[in-house]
Amino acid sequence: MSRQLRLGVNIDHVATIRNARGGKHPDPLRAAQMAVAAGADGITAHLREDRRHISDDDIERLVREIDRPLNLEMAATEEMLSIALKHRPHAVCLVPEKREERTTEGGLDVAAGHNILAPYVRELAAAKIRVSLFVEANPVQLAVAKALGAHVVELHAGAYCDAHADGDFAGRDKILARLRAGAKEASRLGLEVHAGHGLSFETVGPVAAIPEVVELNIGHFLVGEAIFTGFDASIRRMRQLMDEARGGGEAQFA
Ligand code: PXP
Repeated sequence: MSRQLRLGVNIDHVATIRNARGGKHPDPLRAAQMAVAAGADGITAHLREDRRHISDDDIERLVREIDRPLNLEMAATEEMLSIALKHRPHAVCLVPEKREERTTEGGLDVAAGHNILAPYVRELAAAKIRVSLFVEANPVQLAVAKALGAHVVELHAGAYCDAHADGDFAGRDKILARLRAGAKEASRLGLEVHAGHGLSFETVGPVAAIPEVVELNIGHFLVGEAIFTGFDASIRRMRQLMDEARGGGEAQFA
């Protein structure tokens, strides 16, 4: 089993806490620097159209100050495209922001949105930005992601995590089986496979153990856990659980 599994730390909710009061504290850039020191392989930030957490200035400072790859999550809009082309982050992950853009499990409906998405994928790729599409692990979505020319698919783990949190273990295991099959299919198509959304200490193991998955993007849980144990400790523990799951043997729910 491949041991190569990167952790991208999403710092959006550091900005959520800052914005609850306005001002500058806590600073997402400082959180990103701490995340790198704790073992993050990259930093992820979602610049939302309504700027509810990460700001334009945060993106500018992250691009300038962080010496790890920045994965900019954004909607496929003209405004976001021009921001991405201006800053040229290592990667852009196109994500849905409106209900109409989503599939039932919350991924970007690339099949329905093919014609809208195609010029965005083309322009980002032409600027040498790695393009990722945040999709449900569904064979049709994966095939269209490939046809669009994306380099990466990030498989939406939200429904899997929700089922676990609800105690619906049969449902959770069915979704996990879809994530495994989707990862295999995406890899067969030549797509790099990432996963994320909602992952916690309890749910990360089985997803980290999927051999085709090479990157997990995790944020909300790490920032929440930081209240109790500190950001550094929460990231280090997540990294350890990922490495243990990747190390072979039967993946466990913590
Ligand atoms: N991956 C993608 C594409 C996302 O949109 C998000 C949420 O911003 C995450 C991963 C991280 O999810 P969470 O904050 O629930 O860990």
